[in-house]
Amino acid sequence: MTTPIVRTLPKPGRRLAVLISGRGSNLRAILDAIRTGALNAEVGLVFSNRRQAKGLRTAKRYGVPTAVLSHRAFRNRRAYDARIVKLLREHRVDVVCLAGFMRIVSPVLLDAFPDRVLNIHPSLLPAFQGLDASCQALDYGVRIAGCTVHFVDETLDSGPVLLQAAVRVHDEDTHETLAQRILSVEHEIYPRAIGLLLDGGLRRHGRRVLLSGAAERAPADMPTESGRRPTHAR
Ligand code: GRF
Repeated sequence: MTTPIVRTLPKPGRRLAVLISGRGSNLRAILDAIRTGALNAEVGLVFSNRRQAKGLRTAKRYGVPTAVLSHRAFRNRRAYDARIVKLLREHRVDVVCLAGFMRIVSPVLLDAFPDRVLNIHPSLLPAFQGLDASCQALDYGVRIAGCTVHFVDETLDSGPVLLQAAVRVHDEDTHETLAQRILSVEHEIYPRAIGLLLDGGLRRHGRRVLLSGAAERAPADMPTESGRRPTHAR
């Protein structure tokens, strides 16, 4: 077996596009982190495939440009993604953040932004890929659930992991309470993961993303009763 080489990921520019299909609470967390200075970035475009996505209203409230384009008007995924890439280029986007974007992206988009497309998923991947991940976790009976920020590849919820955070499952949990606790941790780790990528120094070793060269070291979170992130000794 050959050992994969360690490759430093190029430091991207700081202009983000956030791609959404619905509520947009992760979008809001990213915009809030930018506003408070916790994340040094700007959102150049919020894109949605659904006109009724609530997150579009959030984008407008924060004064961020939006674009909506239904995939239905396109003959296939590649043609749709080519149009999205054109839009992203027009808005001088450096990094693409999927945040509840309910579409699988094709190589057309991934090749246009190599190592620069991120997604957040409400489970500790590779467990519970696909829809309703927190329901899957509760029904399976795991004691620790969580969320993952990962680089996107062509397969659903399977690209290299950048950050994860764990959330303890309580006996009293329902689908809703667990999903909500995971979501509040998502709001912490997504801006943080984006910051790690933007600050540069991340390295790839096969599937592994090494954080030790990054400006901020960010160990995976440990579970706590409240589901919030504890303070780590660095
Ligand atoms: C989040 O749970 C995220 O992990 C998943 O889709 C949901 C989007 O929620 N990919 P929101 O639109 O950011 O509120």
